[in-house]
Amino acid sequence: MSKMRLVLHAVLWARDIKRRTGLAVLVLAVGLLLIPAMIEGFPPASLPPAVGQPVPTGELGEIVRLGKELVERTNTHPLTKPYVGNDLQCSSCHLHAGTDPKVATFIGVASAYPLYSTLHKAVITLEERVGDCFMRSLNGIRPPLGSKPSIAITAYITWLSTGYPARMNPKANEGLYAFPVLPVGDARADAVRGEKTYRQKCSNCHNFDGQGVPGDIPPVSGPRSYNAGAGLAEIPKLAGWLKAAMPLGDASLTDEEALDIAAYVDSQPRPKFVLTDHLPPPTGLGVYNSAVLNEVKEAP
Ligand code: HEC
Ligand code: HEC
Repeated sequence: MSKMRLVLHAVLWARDIKRRTGLAVLVLAVGLLLIPAMIEGFPPASLPPAVGQPVPTGELGEIVRLGKELVERTNTHPLTKPYVGNDLQCSSCHLHAGTDPKVATFIGVASAYPLYSTLHKAVITLEERVGDCFMRSLNGIRPPLGSKPSIAITAYITWLSTGYPARMNPKANEGLYAFPVLPVGDARADAVRGEKTYRQKCSNCHNFDGQGVPGDIPPVSGPRSYNAGAGLAEIPKLAGWLKAAMPLGDASLTDEEALDIAAYVDSQPRPKFVLTDHLPPPTGLGVYNSAVLNEVKEAP
């Protein structure tokens, strides 16, 4: 029975009761039935439906689980290692494998893709967007479209968007649940002030020189960090991300502190970005996005 019919039945049933027991019962019965119907039809962004739910069984479950593993162990897993050029994982920035709703979350992201990008003047798929973070944030090479790591990560992010209605983002080249950037605006981002605050609040983990602790704490600058083409290499984006994410476990920076630290961190040396150095060899994979090339169907 459809939701509308359920509601209709409830109204008729309640009307029947009303004759006997009065208006209060009518209001209660209709209300109780309508509320779950509305929530089920339009999940609010604050309730991540996929988190905490069991991973699907069978082949889909396997690929989703692999995707999560690759997001957490991107620079060591044999499937992704060849495409990573620094000491970061996806989850170094997309905290808790992208399940933190406030910090560059993956929850709901697939609902805005394919996405019209004003940057590329093209419609890009989620799989293509994943390749962008490999090229820039991981200072690596795009995995070819249709390759196993690319499919697994994209399947994992898509699974985390279960229940979110498809909706384009008219304002930015990203999903609808992205963290807010901090515009530099009137508040001047001061790298000298930022260095002082960095030393107080960040250097105990990321080190005074920004290099972190290999295998434990990721570097925020230097040759093994994100490159100049990454989202975090832009001060307003880094400041917005820091405000939501750092210091780890105690995100408590003021807007001014976040902007100053972002100006300092992004003034430090890091790899430069030349787009063509980050493309995979042209193998032809990805022109047709399927690993199944032997399908044959005879006409009756
Ligand atoms: C150095 C930090 C960093 C790392 C590492 C990183 N990302 Fe990102 N990613 C970002 C930021 C910041 C954004 C926000 C958009 C932007 O770049 O402007 C983003 C955006 C995205 C988006 C688009 C989100 C949306 O709402 O449209 C996807 C998908 C994504 N990243 C996937 C990945 C995957 C998969 C990996 C690992 C292969 C990865 N990222 C590694 C920082 C990072
Ligand atoms: C308690 C230790 C700790 C403190 C303090 C801390 N961080 Fe982090 N930071 C981490 C860890 C660990 C990660 C990786 C997250 C993960 O893997 O879950 C990280 C990730 C990052 C990243 C994204 C990945 C990268 O290396 O580029 C940036 C940028 C960053 N921190 C900057 C800062 C800044 C700026 C401060 C001070 C405001 C700070 N952090 C304070 C532990 C810390």
